[in-house]
Amino acid sequence: MKVTTAKTAGFCFGVRRAVDTVYEQAESCGGPVYTYGPIIHNETVVEDLEKRGVRVINSPEELEQLTEGTVIIRSHGVEKAIYDKIERLGLRCVDATCPFVKKIHRIAERESRAGRHIVIIGNEGHPEVEGIKGWCEGGVTVISTPEEADKFALSEGNQVCIVSQTTFNYNKFQELVEIFLKKSYDISVLNTICNATEERQREARSIAKQVDAMIVIGGRSSSNTQKLYEICRKECKNTYYIQTLVDLDSKPFQSIGHVGITAGASTPNKIIEEVQKHVRIKF
Ligand code: F3S
Repeated sequence: MKVTTAKTAGFCFGVRRAVDTVYEQAESCGGPVYTYGPIIHNETVVEDLEKRGVRVINSPEELEQLTEGTVIIRSHGVEKAIYDKIERLGLRCVDATCPFVKKIHRIAERESRAGRHIVIIGNEGHPEVEGIKGWCEGGVTVISTPEEADKFALSEGNQVCIVSQTTFNYNKFQELVEIFLKKSYDISVLNTICNATEERQREARSIAKQVDAMIVIGGRSSSNTQKLYEICRKECKNTYYIQTLVDLDSKPFQSIGHVGITAGASTPNKIIEEVQKHVRIKF
């Protein structure tokens, strides 16, 4: 049985870096360790970290209760006010914000200081977007639909700087930017979309085209895994969606020579490796 596992399966660079940071801190730092928000949307990982003494802080109010320890900022990043609070409380801060997100914070801070109104193309309420908003020193608007872009209005002479949430769809971003460019403001557009998701999808599609069966690993409620499944299913009828090795049925693989494996953004490497090993040895 030949097995091809996607190089982009599972955690992207920023999430891997953040998860590794939490494990390192849990092991080495001695005092209590907290993450500001769950480090990743994967219960197994969060529970495993809990066993190692890592607690999740869910709000500024909870943060306010802490008197000692280390607070780790996850890959999504946070608003400036949270860093200030951590410092004021005398806590230690370990920043695992993805560098691509950090770059947007810098742009938002610099451009709003220079007097530009910041437009974030992204989803209101998403933690990354909330974080970016919190680095703007002047006006900021979050836009996710053409209707909102149409309605956007500022008084004349205003300068606008457009950035995007890292995981926003590129075509939708372009469509919204077009609407802005028709307005007669002084507009600068910075495409800050990260291509990790797109690359994962591209690789999954290309593997699915070559194999006899495809396994997609990820949580049932993970929308990026569902999307991966749909992409693979289009190219390869024998595509199976599993959460862990337990869900894998060997029957459909009996007369198959080449299997492909990919996984959603919050699937830990350990699960991917388990599935890969099992398929190689047992099928
Ligand atoms: Fe991941 Fe950072 Fe991109 S967290 S999706 S590598 S912006």
